[in-house]
Amino acid sequence: MAVVLGIESSCDETAAALVDGERRIVAQRIASQDDAHRPYGGVVPEIAARAHSERIAPLVAAVLADAGLELGDVDAIAATAGPGLIGGVMVGLVTAKALAMASDKPLIAVNHLEGHALSPRLADATLHFPYLLLLVSGGHCQVLRVDGVGQYRRLATTIDDALGEAFDKTAKILGLGFPGGPAVERLAREGNPKAVPLPRPLLGSAEPHFSFAGLKSAVLRAKQAGSHVDADIAAAFQQAALDCVIDRTRRALAASTGLTALVVAGGVAANQTIRAGLERLAAEFGLPFVAPPLALCTDNAAMIAWAGQERLALPAFTPDPLDIAARPRWPLDPDAAPVRGAGVKA
Ligand code: KG4
Ligand code: ZN
Repeated sequence: MAVVLGIESSCDETAAALVDGERRIVAQRIASQDDAHRPYGGVVPEIAARAHSERIAPLVAAVLADAGLELGDVDAIAATAGPGLIGGVMVGLVTAKALAMASDKPLIAVNHLEGHALSPRLADATLHFPYLLLLVSGGHCQVLRVDGVGQYRRLATTIDDALGEAFDKTAKILGLGFPGGPAVERLAREGNPKAVPLPRPLLGSAEPHFSFAGLKSAVLRAKQAGSHVDADIAAAFQQAALDCVIDRTRRALAASTGLTALVVAGGVAANQTIRAGLERLAAEFGLPFVAPPLALCTDNAAMIAWAGQERLALPAFTPDPLDIAARPRWPLDPDAAPVRGAGVKA
């Protein structure tokens, strides 16, 4: 049975994993760089790239040793080739190219977003196409219709900040440190979401997209006003963000036909309040709700190896050339219409 080695290095996790065709994660290791970036309150690209280059080779050796395998036993080598912080992406991709060349195995250059998009199928063998995917991470906030491997239609995106970015900025405003999402979620448990009035940008709008910049600014004003406790601000922010996510996703569901499930993926999918809200929304439409286990939501290499498996299983599979370039931007749906607003993420 085919075993794919996956490598992930697009942000601040260096990760390697081996996944087989039966959806077994044979081995996986993740080296987080949180400690290196914490003093700066965010990911510093140069520090990230350096840390990836120090860690990647020992990590690959370690997962092979964990599985009792040699490089020659692996059937393909998959690595994130973008989008992401370009220095880090290059480290992972160049490592994969070297391994592919040395072992004469196929190279599979994976779109990081495709890794997230297909990760629910790694955890759930019953998830079939087409499904509606809410992809919410530090850099992205998109609704995609997933019709098959490599077939993604973007129905909505953010016109300003990504959802994870809004969580991270709220954490920064509240002095909760880095990484912010889990800290905001923890503090929100102790707060009253109704205690602080916050806006819900684009709620009920006829256009499909997301916007979080106005919510973030309102969080800043609420903090500066000095009349609210931080836990209430965190809870109110999370509730407002959830309301926006539900409204926008409901709009996409109402406009779609033939779906098998509502699926959430990406780092923010680790948030229990957001998961619970989406589960209720799926029930409204009579659809199953699928969310990967928490460890598969945030960046990891198992999802990259699995995307490699999905590609390998295509009848028309062809390996990627060894001179394929790393890409800082790489939209999953290149044909999607551009959206209004500045600072739009691919
Ligand atoms: O997918 P991911 O690991 O990296 C990117 O590709 O961006 O997502 C990281 C993002 C960060 O913004 C982080 O704050 C957010 O996911 N996140 C959360 C939670 N866990 C991670 N946001 C809200 N609640 C969480 N529990
Ligand atoms: Zn990610």
